[in-house]
Amino acid sequence: MIIDRREIERMLAAEGEAMQELFARAAAVRDETVGPVLYLRGLIEYSNICRKNCLYCGIRRENRSVARYRLTPDEVIAAARYAGERRFGSVVLQGGEITTEDHIACIESLVVRIKSLFPASPLGVTLSFGEQTEATYRRWFRAGAHRYLLRIESSSERLYRSIHPDDGLHRYEERLRALRALRRVGYQVGTGVMIGLPGQTLADLADDIVFMRDMDIDMCGMGPYVEAEGTPLVERCGPPPERDYRLAMALKMIAVLRLAMPDINIAAATALSSLSPDGRLDAVRCGANVVMPNLTPRRGKEAYRLYDDKSSAIDSRLLCERIGWGEWGDSLRFGKKNK
Ligand code: 5AD
Ligand code: SF4
Repeated sequence: MIIDRREIERMLAAEGEAMQELFARAAAVRDETVGPVLYLRGLIEYSNICRKNCLYCGIRRENRSVARYRLTPDEVIAAARYAGERRFGSVVLQGGEITTEDHIACIESLVVRIKSLFPASPLGVTLSFGEQTEATYRRWFRAGAHRYLLRIESSSERLYRSIHPDDGLHRYEERLRALRALRRVGYQVGTGVMIGLPGQTLADLADDIVFMRDMDIDMCGMGPYVEAEGTPLVERCGPPPERDYRLAMALKMIAVLRLAMPDINIAAATALSSLSPDGRLDAVRCGANVVMPNLTPRRGKEAYRLYDDKSSAIDSRLLCERIGWGEWGDSLRFGKKNK
């Protein structure tokens, strides 16, 4: 059944009982489609050095108050080994956007090392290092990465432009190019948006859902916009909606996306926990099936502040769910497409 855009917008407007029903329906669809299983990805925040200057992001290039770091290869490997020993099944290696050959080669060799850590059942490796050339994506894919996260942030070109500097480095077209390149190379492709941006309408959010369906994505990570110290977004674009609105809307987006794309992987984003201690748990209760416990060593974790109150502890209540221990937990949709 294809849910049309008007229906999507109607569901996103749900409140009270109708909203609770939406959540319950989405969780049931998740259970019936991808199964009542929560997959874990150990998140390793490799570096907060970034060439970009996104208006909303705490580690933007021009934020001088950030202490920049890069993990050593041994720190990354230790975190990945921990993920394997704890039987997480997969890791996500994430960091700012850097396009130097040195960086590309470092990531490439880290992927090779992570893949060889547990030869009998290698860890799944997801990368998230922003926009790169197709050749770079291919190198990392050949090294063993098989999933890539690159959020569109907003599928509305107008909104995308309003939250990024107009300097030629932050182009909507370029983001689309990168997403298409990832698909061509053969990755399971994840994207997502920020929810509750200044100037974002219900219609924009409905368009985001339609965009993800049209792009036929395999995975999604999306969460609320969270204020970030030292960033100019609010100054430039005005105040965002209330925190409660952002939180509820983020959960509704997850639920609606689950109904629109039942067989994809949807992550309970960390940003949810910045707005509510129950944020990620609620996301799982309304359709998400992936969580990413943070395994970054402390010296990095504190400096990798994309937004304020960034939490990393994983709620022990999440571990009461049925966990896909030791499994990659690949996107079911991707598997069907490539059969
Ligand atoms: N609030 C919420 N999410 C943010 N991100 C960056 N800054 C913020 C913020 N202030 C998200 C973006 C990016 C991901 C790495 O973090 O969506 O893609
Ligand atoms: Fe860099 Fe990503 Fe932050 Fe933009 S959102 S400044 S690309 S880390």
